[in-house]
Amino acid sequence: MSLNGKLVWITGASSGIGAEVALELARRGARVVVTARRAEALEELAGRAEGISVAAGDITDHDGIARVVEGITASHGPIDVALLNAGTYTPILPEQFSADLFRPHVEVNIMGTVNCIEAVLPGMRARRSGRIAVVASVTGFAALPMASAYGASKAFLISMCDSLRADLAGERSGVGVTVVAPGFVKTDLTEQNDFEMPFVIEAPEAARIIVDGLEAGDPEIAFPRRMSLAMKTIGRWLPGPLRRRYVANIARKRHRDRARAA
Ligand SMILES: NC(=O)c1ccc[n+]([C@@H]2O[C@H](COP(=O)([O-])OP(=O)(O)OC[C@H]3O[C@@H](n4cnc5c(N)ncnc54)[C@H](OP(=O)(O)O)[C@@H]3O)[C@@H](O)[C@H]2O)c1
Repeated sequence: MSLNGKLVWITGASSGIGAEVALELARRGARVVVTARRAEALEELAGRAEGISVAAGDITDHDGIARVVEGITASHGPIDVALLNAGTYTPILPEQFSADLFRPHVEVNIMGTVNCIEAVLPGMRARRSGRIAVVASVTGFAALPMASAYGASKAFLISMCDSLRADLAGERSGVGVTVVAPGFVKTDLTEQNDFEMPFVIEAPEAARIIVDGLEAGDPEIAFPRRMSLAMKTIGRWLPGPLRRRYVANIARKRHRDRARAA
């Protein structure tokens, strides 16, 4: 389905993947509404292409995000695709393990996304059309070192989407659910990684892949292919002992590299 003329709502569009997806969608003729907390960055983005409107908001604010969605619908009409992309990531070493570092992953990645789905789902079910696309991560397929909070939050999103997709298909709602699972993409979020990121790609390439997948109505957009295949192999197909040894080896190597750099 071409997204030309469709209304797409993107959260987390003030930088990185979300901003590039907004530009790619605008290039393909979609009407795009962008949300994030940094209103100035959103305005700057909207100035770069025709067809991008701003609706700033914080996805952790349950009532606030419901009002954002009401405002979008009142001004632009019903949302055809909700790309729930806003997210946060803090790598956590064992000595840093704390509720304080976990909390933002739960509040933003999990509950923030849930708030957004709650805001758009009734309208889509009533119209019997629409697509909810949730940006998870290949880290949700297999646990990686230093991702005890981030990876778990993304695994939650994948499982939630798989369940919701089945329920919506079961009632023949006409509403689709897509899991977007990127591998490493160069953005502000990954800038903090102090290790070599395998198969890393640039954000505009990620955006093209995501928009192609949305236009195709894919239930899963996992990329780059080699990274997603590797992560599924580790997390889903390797026997437990092999999987644990493999991931522990990655952790050991990163630990050695950090010790050498210190
Ligand atoms: N980069 C990667 O390698 C990679 C890999 C897999 C998955 N992902 C996922 O891709 C998504 C986008 O990340 P990115 O790499 O493009 O990083 P990014 O440039 O840091 O973008 C994160 C976006 O989320 C927004 N955001 C954070 N908290 C928010 C909140 N409470 N309310 C509203 N918006 C909020 C930020 O905007 P404000 O600060 O303005 O609110 C920003 O626009 C995330 O879900 C991330 O987990 C990224």
